[in-house]
Amino acid sequence: MKAQLHEDFKKRYGKTATNTFFSPGRVNLIGEHIDYNGGLVMPCAITPGTYMLIAKNDDKVFRFKSVNFDDALEIPLQDTYTKSGEEWYNYPLGVINYFIEGGKELQGLDMLYYGDIPIGSGLSSSASIEVVTAFALNELFNCGLSKLELVLISKRVENEFIGVNSGIMDQFAVAFGEKDKALVLNCDTLDYEAVDSNLGDYLLAIINTNKLRKLAESKYNERVTECQTALKQLQQELDIANLCDLDSATFELHKHLITDPIVLNRATHVVYENERVKLAAKALASNNLEEFGQLMYASHDSLKNLYEVSGKELDTIAEYGKTDPNVIGARMTGAGFGGCGIAIVKKDSLESFITKFTLYYEEKIGYAPAVYSSLIGTGVCELENG
Ligand code: GLA
Repeated sequence: MKAQLHEDFKKRYGKTATNTFFSPGRVNLIGEHIDYNGGLVMPCAITPGTYMLIAKNDDKVFRFKSVNFDDALEIPLQDTYTKSGEEWYNYPLGVINYFIEGGKELQGLDMLYYGDIPIGSGLSSSASIEVVTAFALNELFNCGLSKLELVLISKRVENEFIGVNSGIMDQFAVAFGEKDKALVLNCDTLDYEAVDSNLGDYLLAIINTNKLRKLAESKYNERVTECQTALKQLQQELDIANLCDLDSATFELHKHLITDPIVLNRATHVVYENERVKLAAKALASNNLEEFGQLMYASHDSLKNLYEVSGKELDTIAEYGKTDPNVIGARMTGAGFGGCGIAIVKKDSLESFITKFTLYYEEKIGYAPAVYSSLIGTGVCELENG
């Protein structure tokens, strides 16, 4: 693939790419819709990701092309940019915008991207493209930014340039991910620990519902606002900065302050999901996969019933998991509204899992899912030898 990409680059730009960078996608094992509430999440970087080939040019022009999409962009070096349309290149353009705004001296660039993360599948293809671009600019122009600063710029692209009020989990995971490790990340302090994600006789299966995510962004922003409302009402009596500052006992004593029953459901999910992450981290550390699996199911049920971000496609994954003795836990992962689920499946039963689950899913949903067995990969990096 790499050789083919270099060929493509040469054909398109008439010269050789000087550098090649890679940034992974991510899955979140547990801790969903927690990052923007200042709690704990447990993502891992996965081996599929975004490759970026790049070379400087003297034309004062940024040229963006992706192997995955037809449309390309060629835009002159300017002081500022705004999002135009819905095309993929808005993500790297947003990164360039904030580098320039931050006073970084850039020059023209020829760029070629290729991603093997299924697009719109909730595996953070957008965070991956943001972070790979930020990392590449930082290296090429010796900007001296830390990895965390690159993560923050990438998050800002999502929040301000694109307009989704997402938290920091995705960008953090694709930047700081480590091979065979899950990150237990505190989204308030940004302290994290990379914990062993060895699943013994089991593996992590990623299941793409193949459902197009519609209205996902507006629903996502709606959930963020609901959590802010809950927080404000609780702050009438409690000195807290985030919903996740509350343990469930304190929450139970003060939840009457939340006036809207739907908002109460949202807050209940957040407080208990945050506690589930603590339990899940302990379960993983002590190799108690049964307990970990039960926490995954509980997380899914809460996202379905209280947070209302699941849907029949994602529910089918969790439902099926409970019927198959070779599955230890399953849940939706990421924002929801379609996208992907994950399941912990006995290694030697993967083939029969794929066959049985696919039949079950097709019968309920009417079309096939895609199932991958995933490796937990490393975070953003420059690949050797261009
Ligand atoms: C999306 C967002 C993340 C996070 C998850 C839900 O992936 O980008 O910030 O909120 O949804 O956990």
